[in-house]
Amino acid sequence: MSMRPIRSMAIVITALTGSLCFSGQAFAEEAQKKLFSAKIEHKDQSCIECHVQETPGIVRQHMSSKMGNPGNAADYVGCNDCHGDSHNEEDDAKLAEMPTPATCTVCHKEQVEQYEAGKHNLAWYGMKTQAAWHHQPASIVKQGYRGCSGCHKLGTKGLLGVKEGNSGALKHDGGKEASEYRYGNAQCDACHTRHNFSKAEALNPRACSNCHMGFDHPQWEMWISSKHGIGYLSNPDDPNHGGYPSCQTCHMNGGNHEVRTPWGFLGLRIPTKENVLALIDVAPSLGKQLTSLAAALPSGNFIDLDDDPQWTFDRALILQAAGVLDADLQPTERFVDAVVQAEVARGPEAFNEERKRMKLTCSNCHSNAYVDDFFKSSDDVLKNVDHVFAKGIAAVQGLYEDGILTKPEDWEYGPDLLMYYDTKTAIEQELFMIVLEYKQRAFQGAYHASNDYMHWYGWAPLNRAVNEILEEAEKLRFEHKVKQKLKL
Ligand code: HEC
Ligand code: HEC
Ligand code: HEC
Ligand code: HEC
Ligand code: HEC
Ligand code: HEC
Ligand code: HEC
Ligand code: HEC
Repeated sequence: MSMRPIRSMAIVITALTGSLCFSGQAFAEEAQKKLFSAKIEHKDQSCIECHVQETPGIVRQHMSSKMGNPGNAADYVGCNDCHGDSHNEEDDAKLAEMPTPATCTVCHKEQVEQYEAGKHNLAWYGMKTQAAWHHQPASIVKQGYRGCSGCHKLGTKGLLGVKEGNSGALKHDGGKEASEYRYGNAQCDACHTRHNFSKAEALNPRACSNCHMGFDHPQWEMWISSKHGIGYLSNPDDPNHGGYPSCQTCHMNGGNHEVRTPWGFLGLRIPTKENVLALIDVAPSLGKQLTSLAAALPSGNFIDLDDDPQWTFDRALILQAAGVLDADLQPTERFVDAVVQAEVARGPEAFNEERKRMKLTCSNCHSNAYVDDFFKSSDDVLKNVDHVFAKGIAAVQGLYEDGILTKPEDWEYGPDLLMYYDTKTAIEQELFMIVLEYKQRAFQGAYHASNDYMHWYGWAPLNRAVNEILEEAEKLRFEHKVKQKLKL
C-alpha cells in the first residue's frame, strides 16, 4: 500500500502552482489536460501522480519531451518503460530500474547499434587502461563521477580485455560491473540529457562542450575560435547557421552515432609492416628487433601520409615512452590493452576509411584541392610536433640509461608518459605537459583550423618545454658528475 493516499487533482494543481517555483498555472493546466483528458489511459498514471509532487521538475521535462508528447498518442513512452513497474510506493524507490542503452534499443535499435560500434562506447574501458587511473580516489574514477569517470561514463562498463586474461576482441561481462553502480550506466544521456531526451539539444554543439574542452582536448575552444564556429554562432536564427559546420556536421554526419576520427586523441597510428621494415636500411643494428616488431603489425598504406623513416622513429620513441613498445621495440601488454583493444590508435584500413569520410564531408562546402591542402599541412604539423617531442623524450631516456634518473619501485617503465602528473621529477613533469597539453593543442588546433590554439597554446609552449628539458638534462648530468667525483 502506498503510504500516501493517491493525490486528488486539487493537490496536484496546488503542488504545481503553489510552493514550487515553476511558472505554475500554464503547466498545471497542460499536465491536467495530458494526464486526465488524454484519449488513452497513461500506463504510468500512478508514477506521474506521485512524482508530480516528489520530482515535479522531472515530470515537467518528461511531459514536454517528444517521448512524453509523441506525434502519435499511442507511442507515448511512460516512466515505467524506462524504470520498470517494480517500484510504486513511497518507500521502495530502490526497486526502480535505472536505464542502460539496452532500455533504449527496444525502440531505437539503429542508434544503439551505431553507438556501440563507435569510440564513445569504449570511453570507460579506455579510461581504465591508464596507469594513472589506478592511483586516484573513487570519487574521481568510480561511482563519484567527479573527475575522469564523470566524462567517461558515456562508455559501457564491463568490457573485459587483456588485464582480465583476454587478448582477443573485447568481451562483455553481461552487466556485472554496471551492477556495482546505481547511477551512470545510461550513456545516451551524455547528449540527450534526461528527461528532455531532445534531438535539438544533442544537435547543439554545446552538447559536446562539457567534455570536449579544457586541458587536453579543447575542441570546443578551438571550434569557437575558428571561422567555422564563429560563422555558426553568428547565425543563431538561421536553421542552416549561415552554412557553417558544427561538431555534429563533421563528426556525426547524417546522424551517425558511430564516432571515430583517423588520428584520434593522441595523434598516434599503428605503424605498418612496411613502415618498420623500411627502417632496417637506416638502422641495420636494430634489424632483429624491427623484423620481430614488423611481424606483429598490419600491412598497408596510410593515404595522405608520407612514410618518412625519421617520423617512424620519432613515433616509435613516443610509443616506447608510453610503455606501448618495450626497450627492444616489442609490443607490450599496454599495446594490446590501449592501442588494440581500446582502439587508441588505428591501422591503415580504419584510418583511410575515416579520412575519406571526413574529406567527403568537407567537400560539401570546399573544393577537393582546398581540402587536400588543408590535410597535408595539418598532417605536417603533427609530424613536426612528433619530431620536437621525440627530442625531449630521447633526452630523458638518456638520463635513465645512464643511471641519472632511476625508476620508482612500482613502475614498469621509465620514463612513463602514462604516469601523468605522478612523475617525480621536474623534467618528467615537462614531458607530461607536452603529451597531454602542448602536443594536443598543436595538432588538434591545426585540424580544427584554430590558428591561435595551434601556434601559441601548442607549438610555442612545446618548443619552450623541449628547450627546458634539454637544458635541465645537461644540469642533471653535471650535478651527477659532481656528486660522483665528491662521492656524495
Ligand atoms: C507513492 C509515490 C510514488 C509512486 C506511485 C512512484 N514513485 Fe517513484 N519515487 C517516489 C519517492 C518518494 C522516491 C524517492 C525520492 C527521493 O529519493 O527523493 C522515488 C524515486 C524514484 C526513482 C529514483 C530512484 C533512485 O534510486 O534514485 C525513480 C526512477 C522512480 N521513482 C520512478 C518511478 C516510476 C517509474 C513509478 C511508476 C511505476 C514511480 N516512480 C511511482 C515515490 C513514488
Ligand atoms: C517504448 C519505446 C521507447 C523507448 C524505450 C525509448 N524511446 Fe526514445 N522515442 C520513442 C518514440 C516513440 C519517439 C518519437 C516521438 C515522436 O517524435 O513522435 C522517441 C524519440 C526519441 C528521441 C528524439 C527526440 C526529439 O527531440 O526528436 C530521442 C533523443 C530518444 N527518443 C532517446 C531515447 C533514449 C536515450 C532512450 C533510452 C534511455 C529512449 N529514447 C527509449 C520511443 C522510445
Ligand atoms: C526514455 C527513458 C526514461 C523515461 C521515459 C523516464 N526516465 Fe527517469 N531516468 C532515465 C535515465 C536515463 C536516468 C538516469 C539514470 C542514471 O543516472 O543511471 C533517469 C533517472 C531518473 C531519476 C533519478 C535520477 C535523478 O535525476 O534524480 C528519477 C527520480 C527518474 N528518472 C524519474 C522518472 C520519472 C518520474 C519519469 C516519468 C515522468 C521518468 N523518470 C521517465 C530515463 C528515463
Ligand atoms: C560525457 C562526455 C562527452 C560528451 C558529452 C561527448 N563526448 Fe565525445 N568523447 C568523450 C570521450 C571520453 C571520448 C574518448 C572515448 C574513447 O575513445 O575511449 C570521446 C571521443 C570522441 C570522438 C572520437 C575521437 C577519436 O578517438 O577518434 C569524437 C569524434 C567525439 N568524441 C565527438 C563528440 C561530439 C561531436 C560530441 C557532441 C555531439 C561529443 N563527442 C560529446 C566524451 C564525450
Ligand atoms: C572533462 C571530461 C574528461 C575528464 C575529466 C577526463 N577525460 Fe579522458 N577524455 C575526455 C574526452 C572528451 C576524450 C576524447 C578526446 C579526443 O579524442 O580528443 C578523452 C580521451 C581519453 C583517452 C583516450 C581514449 C582514446 O581511445 O583515444 C583516455 C585514455 C582518457 N581520456 C583517460 C582519462 C583519465 C584516466 C582521466 C582522469 C585522470 C580522464 N580521461 C579525465 C574527457 C575527459
Ligand atoms: C555524442 C552525443 C550523442 C549521444 C551520446 C547519443 N546521441 Fe542520439 N543524437 C545525437 C545527435 C547529434 C542527434 C541528431 C542527429 C541528426 O539528426 O543529425 C541524435 C539523434 C538521436 C535520435 C533521433 C533520431 C531521429 O532522426 O529522429 C535518437 C532516437 C537518438 N539520437 C537516440 C540515441 C540513443 C538511444 C543513444 C544511446 C545509445 C544516443 N542517442 C546517444 C547525439 C548523441
Ligand atoms: C569542419 C569540421 C570539423 C568541425 C566543425 C569539428 N571537427 Fe573535430 N575534427 C575534425 C578533423 C578534420 C579532425 C582530425 C581528423 C584526423 O584525425 O585526420 C578532428 C578531430 C577531432 C577529434 C579527435 C582528436 C583531435 O582533436 O584531433 C575530436 C575528439 C573532435 N574532433 C571533436 C570535435 C568537437 C567536440 C567539435 C565541436 C566543438 C569538433 N570536433 C568540430 C573536423 C571537425
Ligand atoms: C557546412 C559547410 C562546411 C563544411 C562541412 C566545412 N566547412 Fe570549412 N568553411 C566553411 C565556410 C562557410 C567557411 C568560411 C569561408 C571564408 O572564410 O570566407 C569555412 C572556412 C574554412 C577554412 C578557413 C579558415 C580560416 O581561418 O580562414 C578552412 C581551413 C576550412 N574551412 C577547412 C575545412 C575542412 C578541412 C573541412 C572538413 C573537415 C571543412 N572546412 C568543412 C564551411 C564549411
